[in-house]
Amino acid sequence: MDLHASHQPENYQHFNAKTYLQRRFIAPNGIIDEERGVQPFYLQCYHHFYQTFHSSWDPTKARLLELGGGPVIYPLISAAPYFADITFADFSKPNLKQVELWVNKDAEAHDWTPYFNHIVGSLEGKVGESQSRVTSLRSKIKTIVTCDIRKEDPNGILDIGDRSEWFDVISFNFCCEAVCTTIESYQETLLRLCKLVRPQGYLTSLISLEESWYVNGGEKMFHLGLTFENVTSSFKQAGFSVEFSDVFPIPNEAQNILNDCKAIAFVVGRKTNSK
Ligand SMILES: C[S@@+](CC[C@H](N)C(=O)[O-])C[C@H]1O[C@@H](n2cnc3c(N)ncnc32)[C@H](O)[C@@H]1O
Repeated sequence: MDLHASHQPENYQHFNAKTYLQRRFIAPNGIIDEERGVQPFYLQCYHHFYQTFHSSWDPTKARLLELGGGPVIYPLISAAPYFADITFADFSKPNLKQVELWVNKDAEAHDWTPYFNHIVGSLEGKVGESQSRVTSLRSKIKTIVTCDIRKEDPNGILDIGDRSEWFDVISFNFCCEAVCTTIESYQETLLRLCKLVRPQGYLTSLISLEESWYVNGGEKMFHLGLTFENVTSSFKQAGFSVEFSDVFPIPNEAQNILNDCKAIAFVVGRKTNSK
C-alpha cells in the first residue's frame, strides 16, 4: 500500500465504491472488522435526530440533501418517513452508480437489508416493516446528482440547473474533513452550505475526530485532523447553533485499522439567520 498518497481530491472520481461498501458496510454489528463497532453509533445518531427534530418541518413538503453521500444510504433509512423529496449528491460517479443500482433494485446492488432491519426493527421497534421502508426510501430519492463542495458559489455546489429552493435538512457525513485541507476551508465550506439550508433548517454531520488518514481499496487518503471544538466553533461561525451533539471514542482495538480516528462526533446545527 502506498502510504504517501497525497491529498488529491480529483482521485475521488476513481473512488473504489465497491471496496468501501464491502469492507465497511456488510452489517451494523458485523464482526468481520473492528471498525463496525462504531456503526451502531452512526445509526443511533440519525435515529435520535429524526425522532427528536422531525416536528420542525412539514414532511409532506420537506426536502433533504444527502451531500458527499458516497455509495452509502444508511443515514437515509431513519429519514425517509419525514421527507417528500430526497436529493443524493456526491463528487464521484462510481459512488452515485452504487446508489442508482440500489434505487433501481438492480441485482448487483449492495445489500442494505441488515441496516433496515437494525434501524426499523431494533431502533424503531417496528418489526416486520423494513421492506415498506425500503420501498418508501426508493420512491423518495428523486434526484441523484454530482456535486463539488469546493465551488465558491453555493448555487454551483450541486450540478442542478436551478437551485432556487432551500433544503430543510442537509446530511453531510465524513465528507468535509476528507476534502478540506485546512480548518479555514472547512469553516468556509460550512458557511457556503448554510446558504442552501432554509432558515431554521438543519445541517447534520458525523465527523471523524483527530484523524489524519484513512484507507480504501489499498489507497491511503488524506483526512483533516479536527477536534470537537474545531467542529462546533466552525458550525457556529457558519451561522448554525449547535442543537445536539454526541461523541463516541473509538475503542483501542479498533484504532489504526482503516484509519487513525480517535473518536466520532455527531453534530446537529440549526440555521439561525435568514440569508
Ligand atoms: C469518506 S467518504 C464519506 C462517504 C459517506 N458520506 C459515508 O458516510 O460513508 C468521502 C466522500 O467525499 C466525497 N467527495 C470527495 N470530494 C468531494 C467534493 N469536492 N465535493 C463533494 N464530495 C466530495 C467522496 O466522493 C466520498 O464519497
